[in-house]
Amino acid sequence: MAKRIDVKDLNVFYGDFKAVEDVTMTVEPRSVTAFIGPSGCGKSTFLRTLNRMHEVIPGGRVQGSVMLDDQDLYASGIDPVAVRRTVGMVFQRPNPFPTMTIFDNVAAGLKLNGMRDKKKLTERVEKSLRGANLWNEVKDRLNKPGAGLSGGQQQRLCIARAIAVEPQVLLMDEPCSALDPISTLAIEDLVNELKSTYTIVIVTHNMQQAARVSDRTAFFNLAAQGKPGRLIEMDDTHKIFSNPTQRATEDYISGRFG
Ligand SMILES: Nc1ncnc2c1ncn2[C@@H]1O[C@H](COP(=O)(O)OP(=O)(O)OP(=O)(O)O)[C@@H](O)[C@H]1O
Ligand SMILES: [Mg+2]
Repeated sequence: MAKRIDVKDLNVFYGDFKAVEDVTMTVEPRSVTAFIGPSGCGKSTFLRTLNRMHEVIPGGRVQGSVMLDDQDLYASGIDPVAVRRTVGMVFQRPNPFPTMTIFDNVAAGLKLNGMRDKKKLTERVEKSLRGANLWNEVKDRLNKPGAGLSGGQQQRLCIARAIAVEPQVLLMDEPCSALDPISTLAIEDLVNELKSTYTIVIVTHNMQQAARVSDRTAFFNLAAQGKPGRLIEMDDTHKIFSNPTQRATEDYISGRFG
């Protein structure tokens, strides 16, 4: 079920501005890959190209290729909506559907996929909310709007929504930045559990988190302000954190900049 991602010579643009340059990488199935690097180096931008969300932004375009197993995501005739169903995403800022109930926020994707059976829906919603460590807080108010939750709860709601449809790849952009330590650990446990089935990419500013949850780590950096971000180094996580090849990686993980 999990898929391999192969990115080749990828450049990512906002209009004339090249935000990310020349990325080539492989993300292994059934593993967790962490993206780290200073603010503005293009982690979110690059992540969004992996499920064709980048092109939703006006002026957003890419050059190069992204393969999901044998399928080129940018080939003509590929339906971006189907891509996003296969490659799920949790965004940096929580974006629940504000007027929808908590239940419907989680069930929305399932209903779109044609699940009508109320019992099945209810089971899957509960399982997803439990997985996102939100169930106990919302089980008595599933029919209240999602917008009525705290920021951290909204983030966990979005995680529940993303995992409810059981995507094959899950992209998570700083999913824990608004969470308390208990929910953070719960999400890390969830990631650990999900990786037996899915391919997971997680962007994080938290080095300990990258070290705890990921198998592979990719370090991105900017040569200078206004220059595109680049992939500097990608390797096994323990190697990146103990003995990186590049000086810039070492400076970043040891807190000397960024
Ligand atoms: N919608 C947009 N339009 C134009 N430029 C953008 C847009 N979004 C991001 N950028 C630019 O692209 C570059 C990369 O931004 P991006 O958000 O990918 O960085 P990031 O590594 O995710 O940073 P952070 O760690 O702060 O989230 C930055 O120079 C940013 O200003
Ligand atoms: Mg970002």
